[in-house]
Amino acid sequence: MWRPPNRRRHGLLEARWPSKPEAEASRLFSPVSLGPISLEQRTWVPAMVPWRATADGFVTDEVLGWYERFARGRPGAIVVEATGIRDVESGPLLRIGHDRFLPGLAELVRVVARASGGKTRLLIQIIDFLRIHRRPTTEKYFSRYLLVTDEHRRALRARAKTDDEIRTVLAAMPEAELETVLSERELEALRFGYRERVTDTHLEHVRELPRVLPDLFASAASRAEKAGFDGVELHYAHAYTMASFLSARNDRRDGYGGSLEGRARLPLEVLARVRARVGTGLAVGARYLTDEVIHGGSRAEDAEFFAVELARAGVDFLSLSRGGKFEDAKQPRVGEAAYPYTGRSGYECMPTVLSDEVGPFGRNVADVQTVRSSVRKAGFQTPVVVAGGISTFDQAEGILERAGADIIGAARQSLADPDWFRKMHLGRGDEIRRCSFTNYCEGLDQMHKQVTCRLWDRLELDSPDVPLAAVGKRRLLAPRWS
Ligand SMILES: Cc1cc2nc3c(=O)[nH]c(=O)nc-3n(C[C@H](O)[C@H](O)[C@H](O)COP(=O)(O)O)c2cc1C
Ligand code: SF4
Repeated sequence: MWRPPNRRRHGLLEARWPSKPEAEASRLFSPVSLGPISLEQRTWVPAMVPWRATADGFVTDEVLGWYERFARGRPGAIVVEATGIRDVESGPLLRIGHDRFLPGLAELVRVVARASGGKTRLLIQIIDFLRIHRRPTTEKYFSRYLLVTDEHRRALRARAKTDDEIRTVLAAMPEAELETVLSERELEALRFGYRERVTDTHLEHVRELPRVLPDLFASAASRAEKAGFDGVELHYAHAYTMASFLSARNDRRDGYGGSLEGRARLPLEVLARVRARVGTGLAVGARYLTDEVIHGGSRAEDAEFFAVELARAGVDFLSLSRGGKFEDAKQPRVGEAAYPYTGRSGYECMPTVLSDEVGPFGRNVADVQTVRSSVRKAGFQTPVVVAGGISTFDQAEGILERAGADIIGAARQSLADPDWFRKMHLGRGDEIRRCSFTNYCEGLDQMHKQVTCRLWDRLELDSPDVPLAAVGKRRLLAPRWS
């Protein structure tokens, strides 16, 4: 993971936990509406991929266990991990691209309702992503993947006659010389693995995304509704297709890029198609970025524009994240794919205690407040969810008090202690297991291993009925609390 220069290790924020009456009178534990649905409290578990689906995208008992564990803490809402809208192979990530996924998803809805005593609203994040390949070996890249072009033939005509000879010469060439022969994209494919972009309009399936995606999202949302979810969160954040349409680096010339209006066009068309397909009882929101934190990327001004347009189009909530892009990701090892949380933008998405002078807590709050205030100035009451290093009562209550956001998202703190909202609510905050913000969980995510928390995954391993991870001796769920 990227580390800020001039970093220092921060301690955790000092925590003062409320008594039960104080919690009950607080903003954090007051209700809020999300379009057609209402949350009993302003607490929110944002999407987190735990790598527990089957290899073909179905809900497993481990997926059920993961969400049941969060539901026992009775947050206002849980957002189920990024779930693929296409019916294509995508490894052990949940999928919603076909009706055969419905029974598992419906069971997930029932499990969460039961475990939360009907208190927690359940949403699902729906996602599209483009193709990304693992980093190849040099030999494999030149023998199998490189498309030999006239540029290569011209550059190497003194040394190679046939395309096969060109491949052989390139495979033996020193790095510095390769930079004079290969294009930027070819170098990237060699060093990082090939990665498609929404601006690759020479590829038909990329050119056609604006024709294809609205229906794919709408069908997925309609399935979510059939499965019984309370809402869907359109994944317009981080490194994936829809975020790339919103990106300031999107220079498509077909009306779906360039200007702010052009970049927002497909996300708005997707929202409109989803709305037209689902009933009025389903909340439809969007998660996107206040700042891409990459060179030439979108900033808070762009996010303000998108927020107002999404609000005007009737989105039921806005959930704001930060960073998490491929553009500044670290070079992966051979055989692995680039991971969008390894560069500076990834750091901003999930900051750790090894930080700059600002520290890891609430780095997204000021930008979220700016975006929210633009939405209010434009006359819309759309609720805004903030996330990023929030882990104490005073911090959460302070954000709500200053009108920085309407709902408090906490991903890692909820993973460290899925009961933490409940403990606060009951006046038992001193029993909270506090996240150390050192990102062991994120390291597991990066390796596509079942995600657990360092603070509890070795506890009471010998107790009966403790489900263990497939690799290594780690428990899969936080110990029970009563
Ligand atoms: C293991 C893990 C998986 C994540 N998966 C997703 C995801 O599927 N979709 C998403 O929008 N964000 C994802 N995130 C980002 C979180 O939702 C959240 O924005 C981020 O962790 C910052 O919030 P926090 O400081 O409260 O953890 C993930 C984070 C972690 C730690
Ligand atoms: S593994 Fe570390 S960063 Fe992740 S939830 Fe646990 S304590 Fe927090």
